[in-house]
Amino acid sequence: MPHYLTIHFSAKSSESRARLVLMHANEGIVNKVDKDQMKTLLAACDSADFSGESGQFLPVYSVHGPVLIAGIGKGIDTGQSAETWGGRLFAQMKLAPFNLLQIDADLLPADIMPSVLCGALSASYYFGQYFTVKKPETIAAELLVTSANEAKLSRSWQKYKALVAGVFTARDLLYEPANVLYPQEFARRCTELEAIGLDVQIIPEKQLQKLGMGALLGVGQGSRRDSAVVVMNWRGGSDEAPIALVGKGVCFDTGGISLKPAKGMEDMKWDMGGAAAVTGTMHALAGRKVKRNVVGIVGLVENMPDGNAQRPGDVVTSLSGQTIEVINTDAEGRLVLADILTYVQDKFKPQAIVNLATLTGAIIVSLGKEYAGLFSNNDVLANAVITAGGHVGEKCWRMPMEKAYDDMLKSHIADMKNIGGPYGGAITAACFLNRFIQNDTPWVHLDIAGKAWSEKAKPTVPKGGTGFGVRLLNQMIDDWVDMK
Ligand code: BES
Ligand code: MN
Ligand code: ZN
Repeated sequence: MPHYLTIHFSAKSSESRARLVLMHANEGIVNKVDKDQMKTLLAACDSADFSGESGQFLPVYSVHGPVLIAGIGKGIDTGQSAETWGGRLFAQMKLAPFNLLQIDADLLPADIMPSVLCGALSASYYFGQYFTVKKPETIAAELLVTSANEAKLSRSWQKYKALVAGVFTARDLLYEPANVLYPQEFARRCTELEAIGLDVQIIPEKQLQKLGMGALLGVGQGSRRDSAVVVMNWRGGSDEAPIALVGKGVCFDTGGISLKPAKGMEDMKWDMGGAAAVTGTMHALAGRKVKRNVVGIVGLVENMPDGNAQRPGDVVTSLSGQTIEVINTDAEGRLVLADILTYVQDKFKPQAIVNLATLTGAIIVSLGKEYAGLFSNNDVLANAVITAGGHVGEKCWRMPMEKAYDDMLKSHIADMKNIGGPYGGAITAACFLNRFIQNDTPWVHLDIAGKAWSEKAKPTVPKGGTGFGVRLLNQMIDDWVDMK
């Protein structure tokens, strides 16, 4: 896996590793250390003016061996703050000798350690695929976690580890350049998940034509690469109707004939961020053997200009039968989603649908890069997604949807246009998708254009592909309450 932190568990500590010593802001050092060493450590804290604030660290080299003193403030809280603390801890492990570190888990409440490890591992993600010379900062880091309950701890860690593996799958897909990760290759990578028990079906372009996915196929029409749809099915539950996760997988978005400007176009390699989140979530759910039925579907295309490309003004017939006048070929994500939304409803009768897409630049204008935009036809589902996101640090903000916006999609020649007016672009895009939801099936659309990629590193998420959505969907499904 493309990260450089390995985690081991043991009942015994090791002489050959640097030690982590925890420092409570008021009560001092938590570890049991002998008098002599305590004196050394406290003296070091004193001279460095280190008070044990949470997330602060102090490396100490003495005759007792290397020690990393770690501030835990008033104690580490569960969940998000434990993860952040873990991410900060990992940042201290980039240089020897602290790259080989041991931590006594029994010094912390039992539920803290898995979250700390989760944060540290997530922070250690690194996509080094295309460097021929290893960067010097990528030395291997190893964390030895010691505990009297070693077996139990390592068992509970497995579930978190599977979740992080899902996040990494999403990040890998985001980072890959579009000359490597084109629709067929994305689909092939999905089939690798069969190894962990997912049922993976690739629907090739020929069959998409037979089915009548005219909206999706129009987008891929200018590309030398075939389009594809992949269905990933996880049947962990009883007879319940599945929850459907639906992802936009535009492997590269040039805009098509409505060509994008050159500046920043390279970012459009991650226009498959919705599909990456769905794939990563399916990985996590299967890895954790979640007892629910979840079906993931991704629409994989490349949006290119070409002699054969779709033209502005073309009219396409979607799988639903509704016709669409394609005013702007750069508003392609909604065309892809329209057909796979129809397909997943026809075929699986899901009890609820969550779709994710790097759909509009307009959502970044609306919300900046802090929140994903959430659109929904159902308050219960909308709140479930917002709450789940809040628990895992993937924030969503609900946006309005009403008829006045939908009216902007009126076309003179077909059932609808693929764009609204110049304003409220994220909302009219959501209204467009809503036209493909059948019988008021509870539905949430997450516009993650501002969240899939980050230019800034966070304690637990390096800059680059974030994997946004995997944690949120995973949490939402854990907290699931039946909709029907
Ligand atoms: N993939 C883009 C949206 C996007 C923009 C994602 C920036 C990530 C970062 C989408 O396909 C697109 O081009 N949308 C257009 C829609 C417009 C033509 C109505 C946009 O947002 O400008
Ligand atoms: Mn586009
Ligand atoms: Zn796009």
